[in-house]
Amino acid sequence: MELKGSSNLSTLASSNDHGENSLYFEGWKAYDNDPFHPSRNPKGVIQMGLAENQLSFELIEDWIKKNPQASICTPEGVQAFKDIANFQDYHGLPQFRNAVAKFMGRVRGGRASFDPERIVMAGGATGASELLMFCLADRGDGFLVPSPCYPAFDRDLRWRTGVQLLHVECKSGNNFQLTKQSLEDAYENARKANIKVKGLIIANPSNPLGTTMDKATFKMLVKFINDKKIHLVCDEIYSATVFRGPRLVSVSEIIEEIECDRDLIHIVYSLSKDMGLPGFRVGIVYSYNDKVVSCARKMSSFGLISSQTQYFLASMLSDEEFVGKYLSESAMKLANQHDLFTRGLEEVGIKCLESNAGLYVWMDLRPLLKEATFEGEMDLWRVIIGDVKLNVSPGSSFHCHEPGWFRVCFANMDINTMRIALGRIRKFVVQESDQVLQVKKQKRTSKRSHGLTLSFSSQMYDETCSSPRMLSPHTPLPQSPLLRART
Ligand SMILES: Cc1ncc(COP(=O)(O)O)c(C=O)c1O
Repeated sequence: MELKGSSNLSTLASSNDHGENSLYFEGWKAYDNDPFHPSRNPKGVIQMGLAENQLSFELIEDWIKKNPQASICTPEGVQAFKDIANFQDYHGLPQFRNAVAKFMGRVRGGRASFDPERIVMAGGATGASELLMFCLADRGDGFLVPSPCYPAFDRDLRWRTGVQLLHVECKSGNNFQLTKQSLEDAYENARKANIKVKGLIIANPSNPLGTTMDKATFKMLVKFINDKKIHLVCDEIYSATVFRGPRLVSVSEIIEEIECDRDLIHIVYSLSKDMGLPGFRVGIVYSYNDKVVSCARKMSSFGLISSQTQYFLASMLSDEEFVGKYLSESAMKLANQHDLFTRGLEEVGIKCLESNAGLYVWMDLRPLLKEATFEGEMDLWRVIIGDVKLNVSPGSSFHCHEPGWFRVCFANMDINTMRIALGRIRKFVVQESDQVLQVKKQKRTSKRSHGLTLSFSSQMYDETCSSPRMLSPHTPLPQSPLLRART
């Protein structure tokens, strides 16, 4: 008998916990329906919601050309084809684990070393995070997560495992830094709600903040989990995106400096951001707990990295000269692109949280909110997507507790596209902030709501779209009222 709708699916499959209805993914859909292209669709939506590192591909392409033997599908490499195509051991190729362990140490400035025997493969950091939840928590158990946080944690950590995420509120007042009090509060709230807290997960560097955790905070946090006897999962997927000081402090260094039960410490890593290879699905679980390593290794059968990819990466990551050059040039390019973008925003009075890592900035649009609520944030976001034609991600999708913050990615586009995006933002801010100021003034004088609808004709941005040459960041622009209001 044919069942209707989703009633013939499992409870898990038909649940909403995937989080696909999040606004974070909504923005991607808007982009997919009308993607920007400089000549074919110059008025389309520019993708600024995707944390991809596309700035250093030519370095990798160059290495591939010089090392044809690293690929098993070239005349130079084909003699390895049979062995590699047959390889299916879930421990992974020894040379791959060695190369990844060495690479992880190098990315952390040689201040920590990693044991290849503890490297477990997974399908990206996505698979690695879920795998760890599977090993550490039972259905219904809670994991603390400082927020704002990576939106897809909802999917990766909860969906199939039934783990609950308990958000630890971080505030703009101290630049969203984690405090002992907020951790204690979240832990106590969970206890009152009869939720068993099994751990804490952090992303360091942070997505969406683009900041690295300072040593003092990190030590406080490790002491906290150690006292409570709960696990600490550190997602260090953005380790090599740190483009200026303060340098990255990895949990692997902290546990060398303070006493703690190492069985509680686990790292999630991936090459999706640091090497810009999300399509390769290279995820790593690195646990200091032998039992977790053993369980995770068995589980990794469900998300192995293809042996072809392992073979290729083992060769590339073992080339120390290349790795050194890649890491330094990639950081330099990220710094340049970040600075170009944030300077462009500053010219119109838009501030971002000061950051030193990541592929995005955390943009403060609070002054542009018609009202300081999440509805106000939504209204503004809809205008930015629909009329300004930029896919940026609203803070609410990162579980931010304060409305008005947006994450904007800058490393997935070339400089010309970024200039077009900046041009659109400038035009928008000039007009928008005039309207916001006007509304606020009217509200003050008449104390009457005029129900302003934040709807702008996309024609307003046509000039920007059709004349990319005008869009140098040095182009003189009318001074933004946002700037005038602030200076
Ligand atoms: C903090 C964080 N963790 C995990 C992931 C998922 O990475 P992967 O592509 O390796 O699955 C992302 C991707 O954006 C991320 O930002």
